[in-house]
Formats: sequence, C-alpha cells, structure tokens
Amino acid sequence: KKIVFSGVQPSGNLTIGNYLGAIKNFSKLQEEYNAIYSIVDMHSITVPQIPKDLRQRTYQVLALYLATGLDPEKTTIFVQSHVSAHAELCWVLNSISYMGQLSRMTQFKDKSSKSEENLNSALFTYPVLMAADILLYQTDFVPVGEDQRQHMELARDLAIRFNNKYSDTFKVPENLIQKEIGKIYSLKNPEFKMSKSDSDINSYISMLDDRDTIIRKIKRAVTDSLGEFNYSDEQKGLKNLINIYSAFSEESIEIILNRYKNENYSKFKADLGELIADKMEPIHNEYYKLIKDKAYLEDVMRNGAEKARRLASKTLRKVYRKVGFVQI
Ligand code: TYM
Repeated sequence: KKIVFSGVQPSGNLTIGNYLGAIKNFSKLQEEYNAIYSIVDMHSITVPQIPKDLRQRTYQVLALYLATGLDPEKTTIFVQSHVSAHAELCWVLNSISYMGQLSRMTQFKDKSSKSEENLNSALFTYPVLMAADILLYQTDFVPVGEDQRQHMELARDLAIRFNNKYSDTFKVPENLIQKEIGKIYSLKNPEFKMSKSDSDINSYISMLDDRDTIIRKIKRAVTDSLGEFNYSDEQKGLKNLINIYSAFSEESIEIILNRYKNENYSKFKADLGELIADKMEPIHNEYYKLIKDKAYLEDVMRNGAEKARRLASKTLRKVYRKVGFVQI
C-alpha cells in the first residue's frame, strides 16, 4: 500500500478551513492507504505558546481526529514530540538546507514580519522539521491545504538533494492539494485565508463552534452588493461560501448555482449555516464524549507513538549510516 502522511498543529481552535482543506480527507484516505497522521506539537512552539494550553489542545486535536472518523486500528495516529526521530532527522536535513531557500518561504516571511519580538531560529527551520516528518515515513502522498505547497516543494527538494549526495534513501513525496477547497478564505476578508490565529473570531468558523454561532457567523459573512448569484472571482466572498457549501454537501457548484439562482443571499446563507451545523453535529457529539476520556486518548497516543517509532527508526538508521555516523 502507498503511504499517506499529514500533520496538524495543536495551536488555536481548528477551523472549518483545516477541516475541509485537510482533515475531512484524512479519514477517506485511511481506507485505501497506509495512513499516518501526526499532531505536530513541536511545530507549535515556533510561536509563543502557553504550556498548559498547548497540552490541552494536543488532546483536543486527537479527539477531533478520532471524532472525524480516524480509526487508530487502521491508521497510525501519534504526537510528534513522542517520536524523537523527527528532531533527529531535522538536524541532519538542516545540514543540507540552504539559508537562502528557507528565507524565501512565504510563511516565514509573513510570520517574521508580523513579530515584534526577536525571531527564534525554530521559526526559520520550521519547514525542515516538516520535511523530516514526511521523509521519515517514506511517504508517497501528503494531503494538505494550498498554504503548504511551498513547504512541500522544500520537502521534495531536500529528499532529492539528500538522495543525490548520499545515494537513494528517501521517497520523493507528492502533495494532495484539493482544487477549490485547498484554500478556504476568511469570512470577513476573502482576500486572506481562513486562519485559526486571526484576531477577529467572526472571520472563521471553529470546528467546535455551536449551531447558533455557526449560523450567526455565516449570516454576517462578507458578500457583495451585486445581488446576483454567480460563482466568480469578482464575487470572492460569495465564491468562498459556495465552495464551503459544495464541500459540505458534496454537490457540484453547478447544482448549487441552479438551486439558488433566483434566491437572495440571505436564503443561501441561512441554508449554508444549517448545512454546516448539521454536518458538524455528529463530530461534536463524538468529540465531547472522547475529550472526557483522557485515559483512552493517552492509550491511543502510546500505541501510535510505538508504531511510528518503529517505522521512523528504520529510515533514521539508514540516514545516520549514510552520513557517516558510527553505528554500535
Ligand atoms: P496547520 O496546522 O496550519 O493546518 C493544518 C492543515 O489545514 C490546512 N489549512 C487549510 N486548508 C484550506 N483552507 C484554509 N484556510 C486552511 N488553513 C489551514 C493546512 O494546509 C494543513 O494541511 N505545516 C503544517 C503542519 C505540518 C505538516 C507536516 C503537514 C507539520 N508537518 C507534515 C503535512 C505534513 C501546518 O502548519 O498546518
């Protein structure tokens, strides 16, 4: 079976952007592939975190993974910091990463330009750790959102560079970026992606928002004054909402355009709010059951870590041998 790997950071509330762009796909892929999903807590500390919140959110992301249908029997689910090979491979990959290439990463440029404090060097090598995550498992496919495209290119570059320098070691991974929903935009400013770190909570729908909150936020989402129900780049707010509708209902854009062409925006928005709430309801029910059971979640973490360690250590041993470390 081909191998799928992906990761989600336990920082902030996950949004329906994270859900549609990546997580919703995870449970589908576990049927056909050998899937490995991580909660990448080591990535989260590249920006300031409150330790007890980080710990709590790690449980939350795991509970959400399970609530969206990930099955720990079929799939390897683990917390990144439990598998030390990630940090170890990251170090080796740092030795073949170019400062120039890392400084051109748009995510680094965004985050570093917004930060008023001293920059930490982990923010700079963030994409190298991400490459380590992926390459450790000889990954074929990586389901991620559009915002990770450049990081995926770096992971491929590093795999190829290492293979050329030391002989064939890593599989060169490919991204699985979904066309329209690879980028879900902010409800308040559809020029920007929907982000869990946005200071305006009305710009995103959290995966844990309740029904009333979802409906209210969709009602207040920015559209336009044209009043015509089109799917077009001139109406980016509406286009984003139609994409969200299509992703949740799993209907084509065409069907949706036909259904609403003679309706006003408010009818469409009311239906969309209900649709999202209906689809999220079973996930919420599962989530609130799971999050109470820390012992079970820790069991899942322990089993996942064990499986992941076994897989990761194979690749790491090979890498250590090739770069010339003594093996005893
Ligand atoms: P993170 O935690 O920011 O986001 C998790 C996933 O959600 C996707 N995503 C979106 N998709 C569509 N529209 C949006 N508005 C939106 N916002 C976020 C992200 O693309 C991502 O797939 N660097 C990664 C985490 C990571 C990783 C990895 C991913 C670390 N190691 C190895 C894959 C493989 C990140 O920050 O994701």
